[in-house]
Amino acid sequence: MVRVITYGTYDLLHYGHIRLLERAKALGDYLIVGVTGDDYDKSRGKINVQQSLMERVEAVRATGLADEIIIEEYEGQKIDDIRRYHIDIFTVGSDWKGKFDYLNKYCKVVYLDRTEGISSSELRSQRREIRLGLVGTSADLLKFQKESSFVNGVAVEGICTDEPQNEIEEPLRQLPCVTASYQELLEHTDALYILSHPSLHYEQVKTALEAGKHVLCEAPAALSAAQCRELFALAEEKGCVLMEGIKTAYSTAYYRLLLLAKSGRIGKIVSVDATCTRLAEESTGRSEQFNRSWNSICDWGPTAMLPVFQLLGTNYREKQIISHFSKEDKTYDVFSRINFVYPEATASVKVGKGAKAEGDLIVSGTKGYIYVPAPWWKTDYFEIRYENPAENKRYFYQLDGEGLRYELVAFLKSIERGESSAYSYIEEEVSGAVAGVVEDFYRRKDTTEI
Ligand code: CTP
Repeated sequence: MVRVITYGTYDLLHYGHIRLLERAKALGDYLIVGVTGDDYDKSRGKINVQQSLMERVEAVRATGLADEIIIEEYEGQKIDDIRRYHIDIFTVGSDWKGKFDYLNKYCKVVYLDRTEGISSSELRSQRREIRLGLVGTSADLLKFQKESSFVNGVAVEGICTDEPQNEIEEPLRQLPCVTASYQELLEHTDALYILSHPSLHYEQVKTALEAGKHVLCEAPAALSAAQCRELFALAEEKGCVLMEGIKTAYSTAYYRLLLLAKSGRIGKIVSVDATCTRLAEESTGRSEQFNRSWNSICDWGPTAMLPVFQLLGTNYREKQIISHFSKEDKTYDVFSRINFVYPEATASVKVGKGAKAEGDLIVSGTKGYIYVPAPWWKTDYFEIRYENPAENKRYFYQLDGEGLRYELVAFLKSIERGESSAYSYIEEEVSGAVAGVVEDFYRRKDTTEI
């Protein structure tokens, strides 16, 4: 019996896939199809896959061509599979020509002609493209625009900024719609990414939602809990997606550590301590409205509070905000510490734009602790540490684009599903709790000035 194996993602299964599977099957008597797992796809940069692993497996099964389906989970697995399943022939499409010659050592390698004129990427981009508008200062938005080029199904259509035309960063200046008018941007787009000063967020998000546009707004989306709730309710009423942007939430390492911590790997969580600092960048001063520097609590607060609220919940018993303010601007905290007291746990958050500290995250538990080295908010790595160092475990997960491109993929998938919370990794309750802390800071409630 001749045993054949082939691999693929098989997203949005098309006739190119089916023709390949038919010819693969015809090469022998028994066909094994390896469908790539989501994690493996992500680690090799394939982030746009539309269907879940189960949907893709089901689609391959429904062709009736596979005698067996396996999941491809890691680099190098092909060698293991060929040995384990006693494979005679490994085959893939000609787009991979030469790439798998190293497998000749283990079995025969056959490259089959790829079917012209069809691919999953093409099918994905044919789905209605979302026209995205950017709001803020062009220098700040450059990174987001660059990241969007890695994501299928979205085109950056315009920018709304109050910078003079000739000062707008080059690639953004070339966009079809460059305007200082928010209304004009809304007319030309389906969705917005808002990175303006936080004091503008609430009005801008509300206006966009009222116009029926989807919104991804850098957190905090509002400066009070009530306004935050109001915005999410409005999004629901309008059938629009509202997502808060905190890119750390979309880092695989961060997300996995949450799951491990919640599943009791370090025992009961007794403390979450997160620090985020950056020395304030020089303001260009050229854009009054959009480029006012974010204070520490708005810039870093949402990220630093994220693990606190996601691990310990939002029902803390009391909190204390200790802020050191700039002498010139009493709304600008150079550095803040926030202590939270929970019935059976505690948390502390340190955020600073005028002071520097070790930017790590520590989640302490009754059996061990999770340590994420600086800068934890864009990490691809963490450790679980125990009393006995021999039991320590290290975890590594690829992170591309600091999480921004995954965040955008989640936003687009939510739009497709028509549900704000469908793919968002930040619970509404967490957004509300963050806005509540920011609100108290501005009102000086539970706040000590130093
Ligand atoms: N394939 C093919 N003809 C096509 C498309 C894919 O023969 N028109 C083959 C590939 O060479 C591979 C298998 O089908 O052996 C699975 O390919 P996959 O990467 O899942 O599909 P693509 O359509 O190439 O996906 P993408 O556009 O995301 O790269």
